[in-house]
Amino acid sequence: MTGLSFETTRRVYCEPGASAKLGTLMTELGAGRVLLVTDPGVMKLGLPQAALDSLQAAGIATAIYDRTEADPPEKLVHAAVAAAKEHRADGIVGFGGGSSMDIAKLVALMGGDGGQPLAEMYGIGNAKGRRLPLVQVPTTAGTGSEVTGISIITTGESEKKGVVSPLLLPDIALLDADLTLGLPRGVTAATGVDAMVHAIEAYTTKHKKNPISDALAREALRLLSRNIRTVCSEAGAKDRAARSDMLLGAMLAGMAFANAPVAAVHALAYPVGGHFHVPHGLSNALMLPHVLRFNLESAAAAAQYAELAGILLPGKSFASASAGAGALLAELEAIIDDVKLEKQLRQVGISHNHLPMLAKDAMNQQRLLVNNPREVAYDDALRIYEQAL
Ligand SMILES: NC(=O)c1ccc[n+]([C@@H]2O[C@H](COP(=O)([O-])OP(=O)(O)OC[C@H]3O[C@@H](n4cnc5c(N)ncnc54)[C@H](O)[C@@H]3O)[C@@H](O)[C@H]2O)c1
Ligand SMILES: [Fe+2]
Repeated sequence: MTGLSFETTRRVYCEPGASAKLGTLMTELGAGRVLLVTDPGVMKLGLPQAALDSLQAAGIATAIYDRTEADPPEKLVHAAVAAAKEHRADGIVGFGGGSSMDIAKLVALMGGDGGQPLAEMYGIGNAKGRRLPLVQVPTTAGTGSEVTGISIITTGESEKKGVVSPLLLPDIALLDADLTLGLPRGVTAATGVDAMVHAIEAYTTKHKKNPISDALAREALRLLSRNIRTVCSEAGAKDRAARSDMLLGAMLAGMAFANAPVAAVHALAYPVGGHFHVPHGLSNALMLPHVLRFNLESAAAAAQYAELAGILLPGKSFASASAGAGALLAELEAIIDDVKLEKQLRQVGISHNHLPMLAKDAMNQQRLLVNNPREVAYDDALRIYEQAL
């Protein structure tokens, strides 16, 4: 470790019912006209009601953009920016899963004084301008988007690109477990595994691994692995303490990977999600065991996986690093099984002849692949997809 930098959201509130603080917080941020960005499912469930009531009580004029779709395409960003401009919004709220929060970030930047075209913002550090005040209220646990300066957008038919900039870091994250009590099992499981992948990939990232991210990733994995089975069970779905721990774990994982970036699991998952409309977390779950198995060839990665095994399997000792790494892999596979996620690409409509296309597209994710502990070439990606089929 020769040096590090670390950035995250400045203020975090984590408490059941916390979304009712929104009006007060937007006032503190100086916003009087707010656009709340959400999706039709979240809207239909009435989840934003307490937040909207608090905005009204604070005298804030609020408009709602509720057309967010999963893996949001560029056109939705433009539509939401237009809604913000029409409302003359001076503050933005992202309310929902990663898709709504990622749109909200770009709206906060482009709805302010930024005249930069979206196409020029993709990549690391290319965004310019000054963004509007931004509060994020996650309803999945989750992407951690509430604490990352990252927005993932689908360009063209299926390619995912990221805008990565400290300008996108939200001002406040409001974690309210009451909003996640009704999250269906499938979404809970997929988003929970996504968060676990964030922690694992941050911990084993090649270039920016650092002690702050490591500590956050470890605590994130502890919270997520202890609670994911509970919140995915019928009896535990409404366990407020477990839901709150999941939100906290997902956020800590977000803080970790925003500063120690994710790698080949995400790089290989993106084409799966992009071409076959597989939810982001599920595509990560499908790739996770196979990428980890591939990475075991790296002695450094195996040693780090063994360290993480101690968190998922407390009290167990391992005779060697490779035994520990193997135990981590087995436990992750057991979790994916227990939360009833699909385990094979063929279960989501992918067949053998799709694999070269996926491997080719994965090679476009160099922003992520460079972080992987072991180099992944086209042939490697193809082999990993074959094993995942
Ligand atoms: N910015 C980042 O750092 C980052 C990190 C990881 C992923 N992402 C991106 O985030 C997106 C995925 O986000 P996501 O996994 O949170 O899913 P999502 O936002 O796409 O939402 C998935 C579904 O869950 C429903 N939903 C959300 N909250 C609910 C609740 N409380 N109760 C019932 N239903 C609810 C939504 O209506 C939607 O149908 C992808 O586009 C991915 O690329 C971004
Ligand atoms: Fe992710």
